Amino acid sequence: MVTSSTGITPRSTEDYHEVLANLSDGSVRRHFDPYLDIAWDAPEMAIDPQDPRWILSPEHDTLGATQWYRNLPVDKQIELGRWRVVNAIKVGAAFESILIRGMMQYIMKLPNNKPEFRYSLHEMTEECNHIQMFQELVNRSGTDAPGMRPLFRRLSPWIGIAGGYAHVILFIGILGGEEPIDHYQKALIRQGDNLPPAVLRTMEIHIAEEARHISFAGEFLQRRFARMSPRGRRICAYAFPLAMRWLATEIMKPHPKIVERFDIPDDVMREAFWDSPQARKVLAGYFGDMRALADSAGLYTPGSRRVWRALRVDGPMSRYRSEPDRTPSPTPG
Ligand SMILES: [Fe+2]
Ligand SMILES: [Fe+2]
Repeated sequence: MVTSSTGITPRSTEDYHEVLANLSDGSVRRHFDPYLDIAWDAPEMAIDPQDPRWILSPEHDTLGATQWYRNLPVDKQIELGRWRVVNAIKVGAAFESILIRGMMQYIMKLPNNKPEFRYSLHEMTEECNHIQMFQELVNRSGTDAPGMRPLFRRLSPWIGIAGGYAHVILFIGILGGEEPIDHYQKALIRQGDNLPPAVLRTMEIHIAEEARHISFAGEFLQRRFARMSPRGRRICAYAFPLAMRWLATEIMKPHPKIVERFDIPDDVMREAFWDSPQARKVLAGYFGDMRALADSAGLYTPGSRRVWRALRVDGPMSRYRSEPDRTPSPTPG
């Protein structure tokens, strides 16, 4: 067993391999197919572009929380809500394709008999199914969502390639994308929000499979952090909050074409991403598990904490995985 220079003792190799074997086993026993497990053509799954259930949650969606949005006529709230949700789904699919590109390069360099090889392939198979499921939903929504914001789109092929070399940064990035999506989807489902049934079904399937992906990335990183040089750990301590903030913004902030189409004022965009007290609470709330992970790996140092704070991704640590954010909502005004 290796004890890190932070004094943290990671799992033994045997225990780590057992965790990976259990995750692989879970993928074999419980997985979903986008066409077998979603009754796309069932009448109740039909997607109605005018469905009032597209209206954004004022509590969990930072654009939906703005007064500007609440003051729009209901048909506009529905239309913008649909564009926003469908576009975030499209960006989620693009993010998963980057994950696959980086992870595929990583596993193809592994020697024989590495448990990461098998589990990563299960994960990539699931991500391919998610991409197909999300794209089917986008196609059926009647919304020609543009997807990734321009810079992210331009960088995306290179991020995949870079991730194939910098494995630790790749896995930090994987969590930076998966955590906001997972928290957003869980918050909506927990609250019992009224969502169009096709959206709800895809979210349920996604959440069920993402739990394994997030566990694997956490286990992988804990192990790598413990064996890292002090310099490498220092780099990761700062890369962590930067990746969280950047990826949360890329996933959640609407594409400029949507901003233009609905004429969303600049100050409303600033308020929603991430200036208002409600938006700050939502942003910081995505990363309770990540702060706990960084802390347990000795990466939540006084210096790096300043970066977490400056980027508004700081806050309380989760006491257990996926603990809902319990910080009270800011009082309006
Ligand atoms: Fe996924
Ligand atoms: Fe995933």
